[in-house]
Amino acid sequence: MRKIVLFIATSLDGFIAGKNGDTSWLYSDGDYGYKAFYETIDTTLMGFNTYHYIRQFPFPYPDKKNYVFTQKERLSDDNPVEFVRGDVAQFTQKLKQTEGKNIWLLGGGKINSILLTAGLIDQMVLSIHPIVLGEGLKLFQDHSMMNKHFRLVNHEIFDKGLVQLTYQTQ
Ligand SMILES: NC(=O)c1ccc[n+]([C@@H]2O[C@H](COP(=O)([O-])OP(=O)(O)OC[C@H]3O[C@@H](n4cnc5c(N)ncnc54)[C@H](OP(=O)(O)O)[C@@H]3O)[C@@H](O)[C@H]2O)c1
Repeated sequence: MRKIVLFIATSLDGFIAGKNGDTSWLYSDGDYGYKAFYETIDTTLMGFNTYHYIRQFPFPYPDKKNYVFTQKERLSDDNPVEFVRGDVAQFTQKLKQTEGKNIWLLGGGKINSILLTAGLIDQMVLSIHPIVLGEGLKLFQDHSMMNKHFRLVNHEIFDKGLVQLTYQTQ
């Protein structure tokens, strides 16, 4: 079965974006394993807020199948994305059973929580930046998964102090 992999950057205190959605703290000076990871997936999943952030730039994943979760009636737009309404977990469960490469869960915090709670995230690759933001958007917006433990399967330390941790969730 295809794996759902949450590949995402966080601050030391577990935020994926700072106050007012600030992402200026994210390192953009290197690859940090991105290209190799990108080759392992053929599909992305994201919540509408993440898509809303991404769409201000030239669309970065034109060669992938991209699904955007929304609860509103939204028409398709210029980018190669498909809007998905309805049950996030049910859709993802079905998608996992189809043929293909792994699936990148981009985020954000709301969709991450839904899929973690549903037990549908297979792996998490967290690029932890050496910065404390103090406030912002959490990696998981909802607390229902508190006290769940994960298995560390890989770690990498980069010169600038960024640490990349890979966890198996099952
Ligand atoms: N650091 C990183 O690597 C990284 C990665 C990804 C994202 N981010 C940041 O994360 C932020 C977005 O995260 P977020 O937590 O605000 O939002 P999100 O998880 O990206 O999207 C939430 C949206 O998904 C839609 N949705 C569909 N089904 C839903 C359901 N059952 N329950 C709740 N929402 C549902 C809703 O959109 P509708 O209003 O359309 O219904 C909801 O507002 C952005 O600022 C982005 O920059 C950072």
